[in-house]
Amino acid sequence: MQAKKRYLLLFSCCAFLSFGYFGYHHFKSQRQNRWYQQLSSYSDDADILHDEDIYPNRKFRSRRTSVDRDGLVPFSECRMENCFDFSRCTRDFKVYVYPIDDNVPPSSSYMKVLNIIQDSNYHTSDPSQACVFVLSLDTLDRDTLSKDYVRNMLPRIQRLPLWNNGQNHIIFNLYSGTWPDYAEDLGFDVGKAILAKASISIENFRQGFDISLPLFHKTHPERGGEEGFLDSNKFPGTKKYLLAFKGKRYVYGIGSETRNSLYHLHNERDIVLVTTCKHGESWKDHKDDRCDHDNAEYDRYDYEVLLRNSTFCLVPRGRRLGSFRFLEVMQAGCVPVLLANGWELPFSEVIDWSRSALWADERLLLQVPDMVRSINASQILQMRQQTQLMWNQYFSSIQKIVFSTLEIVADRVRRHRARSLAVWNSSPGALAVNLSFSDYLPHFPFYLTSLGISPSPRYTAVISVTHGGTGLTQTTPLYKLVKNIARSKFVEKIIVVWTSSQAPPTENRIPGGSVPVHVVVPPDRSISARHRPHPLITTDAVFSLDEDVTLTTDELDFAFTVWRTFPERIVGYPARSHHWDDAKAGWSYTSRWTNSYSMVLTGAAVYHRYWQHVYTHQSPSGLLSTVSTTKNCDDILMNFLVSAVIRRPPIKLTQRKQYKDYSSEARWVWTDPSHFHQRSVCLNTFASLLGHIPLKHSNLRLDPVLFKDKVSMQRKKYRQIEKIGS
Ligand SMILES: *[C@@H]1O[C@H](CO)[C@@H](O)[C@H](O)[C@H]1NC(C)=O
Ligand SMILES: *[C@@H]1O[C@H](CO)[C@@H](O)[C@H](O)[C@H]1NC(C)=O
Ligand SMILES: *[C@@H]1O[C@H](CO)[C@@H](O)[C@H](O)[C@H]1NC(C)=O
Repeated sequence: MQAKKRYLLLFSCCAFLSFGYFGYHHFKSQRQNRWYQQLSSYSDDADILHDEDIYPNRKFRSRRTSVDRDGLVPFSECRMENCFDFSRCTRDFKVYVYPIDDNVPPSSSYMKVLNIIQDSNYHTSDPSQACVFVLSLDTLDRDTLSKDYVRNMLPRIQRLPLWNNGQNHIIFNLYSGTWPDYAEDLGFDVGKAILAKASISIENFRQGFDISLPLFHKTHPERGGEEGFLDSNKFPGTKKYLLAFKGKRYVYGIGSETRNSLYHLHNERDIVLVTTCKHGESWKDHKDDRCDHDNAEYDRYDYEVLLRNSTFCLVPRGRRLGSFRFLEVMQAGCVPVLLANGWELPFSEVIDWSRSALWADERLLLQVPDMVRSINASQILQMRQQTQLMWNQYFSSIQKIVFSTLEIVADRVRRHRARSLAVWNSSPGALAVNLSFSDYLPHFPFYLTSLGISPSPRYTAVISVTHGGTGLTQTTPLYKLVKNIARSKFVEKIIVVWTSSQAPPTENRIPGGSVPVHVVVPPDRSISARHRPHPLITTDAVFSLDEDVTLTTDELDFAFTVWRTFPERIVGYPARSHHWDDAKAGWSYTSRWTNSYSMVLTGAAVYHRYWQHVYTHQSPSGLLSTVSTTKNCDDILMNFLVSAVIRRPPIKLTQRKQYKDYSSEARWVWTDPSHFHQRSVCLNTFASLLGHIPLKHSNLRLDPVLFKDKVSMQRKKYRQIEKIGS
């Protein structure tokens, strides 16, 4: 019986392990597969290592610039060098937003843009601290026929004392011009301001100065945003349809020829390009011979189904160069085929669109089928993955679009410390990489694996003491914990973060042996203090511990060993889960033992010290204050932040049987039943502030008996654990 159980355990562990192993060695095994031989990862490792090699690829064209007699720079000659005041940006990159003029309230879309900036870490309310300025006058829609069009813009702007002819201003715009020519100017002199504008043409785009935006819908989510639709990578990746498009056509006027010609290619089999003439009120007056037939064909296809079942999707220009199709197609993981001659693609300064999109020529429409057929299966898969990466990192919410815009300017301002294109075009993207932390990429956890670099071989134990008193005896849990840590092969030093209201013991009373022990007393005694970066922490790994956890030395070493294989994740013992509760119409937090988990509590977990920086300096506003007012949920927040960046779950290690739970949370069940309720409240608060729940569920549990061992040879490596477990 006993033996049977053992084998069962062995088998299930094998299953878990192989799951973890294959997930992890995804690309490695792909390379061994003949089909995947051409498939490289998102970014070449060499790209990441040698920033400077690819830096010159940046499209900062150093054109000669001229200044006319009055010292005014002509619009088209504006560059960062002559139209931007770098001296305002010597400190942090901060953004000032003008107070709202109640006579001209912004549209709801522009209000979102302003709110996003005001709630962000970029915001400053002191204009003298600002590097760039954003108007509160709504410039998003400059179509004179639009209800959001603001009249007399120029006098209004010139009345602003900080305007300074637009210097260091960013002007956001989605629509300009109107029927019939849809001119690209905004109808007022923008002076030296940087235009962040949709549908901008290469002709009018001032390279290295303006920023091309994607056109986004009024309903585009403000924060969070839905993930890309691609949830598995089948190979070969061809879908039911080769090429698809469903949309309006205009019958006459600018931009109409392209869409009007699509029917030539429509064959109902693998190419489905359907258009409708129905739009506006007067479509019947202008309808042509094909309209009735086209409209009927159009109604046969569901847009969503078409998008999801097509390998390539056409993105033809609308009246203006950009179209909503672009973002829709990217999210669906359908490779965009662009038909908009002269369009400067969104964020072209930093995004390498050749990795995820194809250009077709509006004048050579009939060549499109041959062109897409010539793309081989591995290229398709690679491009599809890249669409998802770009969508998730820069486009899925207005917040990401606005932050990306600001980060492009911030990178220009930093000049020599700008992020490389490899960072922008690979996971987890530039918004996740804060150069204030380091400009050396191996200092970031998510690049280590692809660079083939191991994290530093030791860890710093950070013990949080919230309840302890001065009296430290041999039976105090803290005393025992420190003893166990001190015996660890990998520990570098022990830091005790003392937030208890009682006075801390002196360092020499704590039994660190030969391991240095430091007691740190944060002045604010905040429960977030345990996750704060500290100059004493010099290792990549932080082993975060509650004062009363009972981990053996083997368990500590095992956790750290596993973490070295997954340095971007939270790796630890006590796991928790969340789920949607219909009855409460909200998210619910649970410590019940379930198959899957989505959080690993930081009372006994290893994480990379970059996450301390993220927690302390990059938490979206409101999250940290929730932790400090509730004096709870810091561990939930840490899980949110890490999952939001890496889009992967934490890793749970298996526990000894007789200890149900290592975490101090167990204690709360007795002392404070409201604790769990509070945690569900936190979960919901975080979710609403972020706009979504980034947590991912996982079933993986790694067991010390089998982790990366040749089972028959080395079963006895973690002896202590086996003894206790059986
Ligand atoms: C098309 O997409 C829908 C929705 O994603 C899916 O249910 C359906 O199975 C797909 N059809 C084909 C033929 O792939
Ligand atoms: C696919 O196309 C790319 C680019 O044209 C080429 O480098 C690669 O060798 C091709 N792969 C296969 C398997 O044919
Ligand atoms: C980057 O980190 C610094 C502190 O090191 C912080 O002040 C800044 O707000 C962070 N940037 C972002 C965009 O979060």
